[in-house]
Formats: sequence, structure tokens, C-alpha cells
Amino acid sequence: MTSDPAPLYGEHLAALQQRAETALARGGFDHLVIPSGTIHYQVFDDRDYPYAVNPQFKAWVPLTRNPGSWLVFTPGQRPKLIYLQPFDYWHVVPEAPSGYWPEHFELVVIRKQEDARQHLPGDPARCAILGEAQSALGEHVPNNPAPVLDYLDYHRAFKTPYEIAMMRQATVRGVRGHRAAERAFRAGASEFGIHLAYCQAAGQDTVELPYNNIVALNAHGAVLHYTELGRIPPKPLHSFLIDAGASFGGYACDITRTYASDTDGEFQALIEAVDGVQQRLSADFRAGRDYRQLHLDAHLALAGVLQEFGVLKVSPEAALETGVSAKFFPHGLGHGIGLQVHDVAGFAESDRGGTIARPEGHPYLRLTRTLQPGMVVTNEPGLYFIDLLLEELRGSAHADAVDWERIEAFRPFGGIRIEDDLVVTEGEPVNLTREIFAEGR
Ligand code: GLY
Ligand code: MN
Ligand code: MN
Repeated sequence: MTSDPAPLYGEHLAALQQRAETALARGGFDHLVIPSGTIHYQVFDDRDYPYAVNPQFKAWVPLTRNPGSWLVFTPGQRPKLIYLQPFDYWHVVPEAPSGYWPEHFELVVIRKQEDARQHLPGDPARCAILGEAQSALGEHVPNNPAPVLDYLDYHRAFKTPYEIAMMRQATVRGVRGHRAAERAFRAGASEFGIHLAYCQAAGQDTVELPYNNIVALNAHGAVLHYTELGRIPPKPLHSFLIDAGASFGGYACDITRTYASDTDGEFQALIEAVDGVQQRLSADFRAGRDYRQLHLDAHLALAGVLQEFGVLKVSPEAALETGVSAKFFPHGLGHGIGLQVHDVAGFAESDRGGTIARPEGHPYLRLTRTLQPGMVVTNEPGLYFIDLLLEELRGSAHADAVDWERIEAFRPFGGIRIEDDLVVTEGEPVNLTREIFAEGR
């Protein structure tokens, strides 16, 4: 597969136009109108929050730092980009649009945010306007019609070749960061130091990353979304879990790796066992597979690892049935990814709405759809020793299902998660993450 997005953009835009046409017909509208978004300010302060572009906007153009711009699509016409390039001597003004994409648009440059109004379709009632309330401009108020959003969001799960190339570029950055992070860990850096090494190598600052880096040493790995960034390395140093992504033109990658200080020790063996489970599961990420079943398969496989390492004393089936496996694997197997790390429409039954419920007892699963070619999803099984959940288990009727001494031995290591991003096909999936690690880029 190619990794240069540029030659693939035209086909991507054509696909979006086709989807938009159907979505508008579903909602009974004539125009699709998408504001890029606005700057938000902290309460009682003139300090702004990092700007986050409207994902519906960046689906069309690889612009992530352009508040106040608008996209207008009317079937049968060239899409129009109303591009704000303000007269401003306080900030760096966005460059004029350049690169592979502007030639596909009717471009209108405006100098003031309000000037977008005169270039929007005349009758706001005929427009599906997708965005946040704060983007309203006069009578052009975001209405986010459900039939339009349901259609677009459902189909956004299927990535165009351009989008996959964009995600591959994001992965190149992420993998560079992960390599540097492992080196920093082995050299004894603090969580903060590892985070800085990651950002330096990925070439991205925190606000550019698609989510806050999870850089967890020792037992911090047991906090699923640990984002504290400790300034002092713990002693002794046992383990390192890093869940960190990168972005490229608005697209994300999402990668997790876990390392042991002692590369001959038992925790290293446990990491390798989880890694083995993750790779075997990957082979089943193919068209026609129900993601809910993959999640349950992951429970059984991980419980098998716990049994093998003497933590679990009952069968994997019994552990799944009684909820014991969920004490060690309390999150979902993964999620769709693309313009958003946790992509939209993970539960969508169809492009007309509806919800596919999660299996009972698995409240954090983010994807319940059946896999189809072109979907990009994560595969991120994990095993953790989380005090809160272990206490629940100890106080439950299933306390005897585990060996508490073995748990005690693993608690200082926190947990393990291994996460890759996979492109679903009819056959073996394309593993974006491992491909780039293997290329040594
Ligand atoms: N980095 C958040 C997640 O893996 O879902
Ligand atoms: Mn993830
Ligand atoms: Mn992640």
C-alpha cells in the first residue's frame, strides 16, 4: 500500500462528495455546511484552550489550525472552502492554502470571521450545518440533523486509501516516539523525561498529539488513563507502559507497548504472553467478524495467560462467566480510529441510526459493529493489577478463583497493554503499527 497520501486525495474527495450527496438526500437538504470551529476561552480569563478542529471539517481538508473557516458542498458543484486568513499582527496568520488539495476547491479567502456569511448558501433552512453551537454565524446555526450525521458517521468507519496513507504517516511519527521512549526508559528517565523524549522524536508537542500521552512506570501502569508524568523516576524500576499516538493532517495513530526492566524476569514473560495473545487475535480481525465476539475471545485468551502464570485457579470460561476476567481486563478490546482516536459510530447499527448494544457485563467496549474491509480499528488487550478491582474481587464470592500471592508478586509492575492499529480486509489485516516498527523508520 502506498504511503504518499497526495495522489490519493482526489479519490478521497470524490468518495466524500458521494457520501454527502446521499446524506443530504436522507435529511432533505440542499447544502452541506461545515464550520471549522472556533476558539474557546477559559472562564473569567483571556487565555484560550488549544483549538480543536471540527472533525467533520478535517475530513474534507487536511487543515487542523484554521478556526473561522467554512466548507460548503452543494451536489453538482465544486466544493467551496471559505478560508479565513485574518489581518492580525498578534499571531502568525495561516499561510495561503497550498499543496495537493486546494485545486479541488473553489477557494474564497476572507479576512474577517463575519465575512464568511456572504459566501454561505442564502437559505439556512436548506442547509445541514454540522458543528458546535459556538460556530453559529447569523442565521447559519449548526443544526446537526440526525439523518445526515448518522449516514456520514456510519460510513466514516470505512477509510479511503488516502485516509489509510494519512494514518500510516501518523504511525511513522508515533513509532519514532515509541523507540525514543523505550531508550529513555532504559536510560532511567522519569515519566516526564520519557514524555519529552517521545515528543522530541515524534516531532509533536502535547497539543498536536491526538490524546494525552500515557507514560506509566511501575504500578502506574495499573491506572488505565494515567497522565500524571512524574518528575522523579521510581526506585527500583520494574516496568514501563506507554500508550502514545501521533497525528498527521488530522489523522491519528494509537499505539501501546509495555516493557520490563528485567528482560529475563517473569514480568517480561507475561508481557510476551500478552503480546502473543494480541498477535493471535489480530489474525481474526477480518471482514465478517463481530467485534463483540473478538472482545470475548480476548477475555478467554487473557484468562488463559493468567491461568498459565498461576494467577487464575479456575478455567478461562468460568473466569469470563463470573466476571473475574474483567477484574484484570476491565476495558474494551479496542475501537475504530481515524480522524478521532475513538472514532464515531462504534455502535451504529446502520447508516440510518440504531445501536448495537454491548455484551452484558462489558460496559467499556467502544465498538460493537461487524468488521468490514476498509475499517481501521485498534487491537489492545491488556492485563492489569488494579487495587480497586482486586479489592472488589477479594470481597466477592469469587475470591478463591485467584492466587493472591501471585497477584501480590505482580502488583508492583502495574499492568500490560499492547496496542496496534489494523486495517480490515477480506483476509489478513494490514497491521499499520507493526509494519512501521518492522521497517525501522
Ligand atoms: N489511548 C487511548 C486508547 O487506547 O483508547
Ligand atoms: Mn486505543
Ligand atoms: Mn491507546
